[in-house]
Amino acid sequence: ELGGYPHYMLKEIFEQPESIRAAMRGRLDRDQATAVFGGLNLDARRLRGIDRMILTACGTSWHSGLVGEYMIEEFARLPVEVEYASELRYRNPPLSSDTLLLAITQSGETIDTLAAMREMKRKGHPVLAICNVVGSSIARESDGGVYLHAGPEIGVASTKAYTSQCVVLALLALHLGRLRHLSYEAGLRIIDELEALPEAVERALESNDVARRIAGLYASCENFLYLGRQYNFPTALEGALKLKEISYIHAEGYPAAEMKHGPIALVDEATPSVFIVPQGGVYDKVIANMEEIRARGGPVIAIVDEQDERASAIATEVIRVPAVADFLQPIVTAIPLQLLAYHIAVLRGCDVDKPRNLAKSVTVE
Ligand code: F6R
Repeated sequence: ELGGYPHYMLKEIFEQPESIRAAMRGRLDRDQATAVFGGLNLDARRLRGIDRMILTACGTSWHSGLVGEYMIEEFARLPVEVEYASELRYRNPPLSSDTLLLAITQSGETIDTLAAMREMKRKGHPVLAICNVVGSSIARESDGGVYLHAGPEIGVASTKAYTSQCVVLALLALHLGRLRHLSYEAGLRIIDELEALPEAVERALESNDVARRIAGLYASCENFLYLGRQYNFPTALEGALKLKEISYIHAEGYPAAEMKHGPIALVDEATPSVFIVPQGGVYDKVIANMEEIRARGGPVIAIVDEQDERASAIATEVIRVPAVADFLQPIVTAIPLQLLAYHIAVLRGCDVDKPRNLAKSVTVE
C-alpha cells in the first residue's frame, strides 16, 4: 500500500505530479482558451452576475483559499475575501445576494466549513465547493462544485490535496476571467503555463535530498520563521503549519515585510528563517528582507529559482525549484517545504502520518 515509501505523507508528496495532472484532466479547453467544469451548476449568465466571492475553509485548505484570492483577483478582477469557516459561521456580514460562497475542503466533512456553507445558503447565496472526497457532506449540500480527483489522502498533514486545491482555484480563476475581461491570448498563456506545471513539480521533487540535508542541520531548532510575499505569503503560512503539525516545532509564517513590525525580535542564531523567494515582482523587496535577517545573525533557508544568483548569495542554505509563472509559484515552492517538514519530523522521531492531537477530518466544533 505504501508502495515502498516509509510513510503515506512522503508517498503523497511524491504523487503530486500525478494528482495535479488529475486535477486538470479534461478541464483545459484550448479552443475557448478557458477551463471547463462538469458540475458547477451555475450558468455563464449567473456567474457573470457574481459581484464578489467569499472563500471559506479551515487550516491548510484556508491557505489554498488565500492563494485563490490572489488568482481570482488577478484573472477575474473580482473582489475576494477569505474567511476562516469557524469565524464566518458566527458572523453576519452584510452581503449582496450576488456574493458567491466557495467552500474549500479535502474531506468534505469539516464541520465548521459545512456550517458556514449552510449559513450562507440559508441567506440565499449561491454556494460552490472544491472538494476531494466524492459524495461527502459538503459536496452533496453545495449547489455545485469541482472535485480534486487527488485520490485518497491518508497522511493527516495535507499535501497533495493542497496543491490540487491551488490548481483547481487557478482553473476557476481562468474560467471566471474568461467570462469577463480576460483576453483569448491571456487565457491561452495561462493554459500553457498550467500544462507545464506537472513537469515543474516533478523537478521540484528533486529537491528531496537537499531538503533532507538541510533538515539534518536544523532539526534541533525550536523556532522557525517562514517568510514570503504576494503569491508566496500563503506558502509561508502553509510551510509553517506543515512544520508545526508534524514536528511540534514552533513556526510562524508572515508576509516577509511584516517581520520588522515584531517577529524580527525572535531572530537569533538558533532561529532559522525560511524565505520563499522565487523571481517575480517583489523579488528585490524580499531580498532586502533577507538581508535584514542575516544582519541579525539569523540563518536563512531560501527557496529560489533554479537560475537564481542574488538571493542564493545571501542565504545560508538554498533549495532550488523550477521557475514558473507567479500564480503557480505557490504550488512549486510548497514541495520543498513539505519535504523539509517531513524530514525534520522524521529526524525528531515524530509519527508523521498521525501527529499527536490531530485527526484527519475535524467533524466536531
Ligand atoms: C493540515 C490539515 C488541516 C486541514 C483542515 C481542513 O495539514 O490537513 O489543517 O486542512 O482540517 O480540512 P478539510 O480540507 O478536510 O476541510
